[in-house]
Amino acid sequence: MRKLVNVQRYLLDTERQHPEASGDLTSLLWDLTLAFKLISAEVNKAGLVELYGEIGDENASGDQVTKLDMFAQDTIVRMMDHGGHLCCMASEEERELIAIPERYPKGKYVLSYDPLDGSSNIDANVSVGTIFAIHQRKSPDGTDGVLDDVLQPSRDLVAAGYVIYGSSTMLVLSTGETVDGFTLDPGVGEFLLSHPNIRIPKRGKIYSVNEGNSHFWKPEVGRYVDWVKSPAAGGYKSRYIGSMIADVHRTLLYGGIFLYPRTYRRDPVNGECKLRLLYEAGPMAYLVERAGGVATTGTTPIIDLEPTELHERCEVAIGSPDDVADYLAFIHGER
Ligand code: AHG
Ligand code: MN
Ligand code: MN
Repeated sequence: MRKLVNVQRYLLDTERQHPEASGDLTSLLWDLTLAFKLISAEVNKAGLVELYGEIGDENASGDQVTKLDMFAQDTIVRMMDHGGHLCCMASEEERELIAIPERYPKGKYVLSYDPLDGSSNIDANVSVGTIFAIHQRKSPDGTDGVLDDVLQPSRDLVAAGYVIYGSSTMLVLSTGETVDGFTLDPGVGEFLLSHPNIRIPKRGKIYSVNEGNSHFWKPEVGRYVDWVKSPAAGGYKSRYIGSMIADVHRTLLYGGIFLYPRTYRRDPVNGECKLRLLYEAGPMAYLVERAGGVATTGTTPIIDLEPTELHERCEVAIGSPDDVADYLAFIHGER
């Protein structure tokens, strides 16, 4: 029989393995899990309390903002701005850095997050989620956080994770070593360890990409996708939900590859990327790599990218090591 462990106990046990730890990160993550429970409860009743729909605004990345985006954004700020663990925050929904109000102490960590990923699908009851990433600050303790505290590569994260509000609510988390999954028991309101030490399969049988963009890809990407669905590749299935969180979660558990390559639709020379480095690609890359997978832009490991601005975007190929290796071979003209 497996031990019953809730996320609090797991975090305390992890902290005990690091005698130098102050307990600050543990308590920051506890606060976050409460925010996730509040968001989960709201997502579950969205249809009942008229939280579906857009509010008619665009966010910092130019996407339509939904009522649940706003609820998730406000919940995280209201939960995290006064705990004394953070020096600032950055969100996909806010153009600028989110400061900690004057009256609250400034902590030693920085939180970057996508409050609700996949929200364009929410009216159809498709799984959505929250992605988060925590860095240690670089600026002096006790002062207001600055942009450089946020603009750090994902390789240097001290923790990252996501919560998927799906058929059940699940938290997937790494504080640097293993990647572990917790399922929310709604009866008692606790995240219970359900998927200890998640390891991505070495190869999968699923590819995941928005093929509606195929006319706007570089030819090498098209050649890979043609190959991966051909009999020569051995029968890959196509799955694309359109919520990165759900597509990457499936990839982590079942293996395979998730792609969001650059498209050349509006800018035929430089093209455009969709997924945001700080809030989407970076934390998911960190988790997948910790679970034994690979995450690359096609030329650089995503966790090595040095962000230069808050809402920077990058190309994404994430998944099982053998599948990403096949993709890279096509991208570099070796196949
Ligand atoms: P968000 O809802 O946070 O704006 O993110 C949407 C992202 C991501 O979740 C998903 O993988 C991607 O957009 C889907 O894009 P396409 O609709 O272009 O396929
Ligand atoms: Mn998103
Ligand atoms: Mn979002």
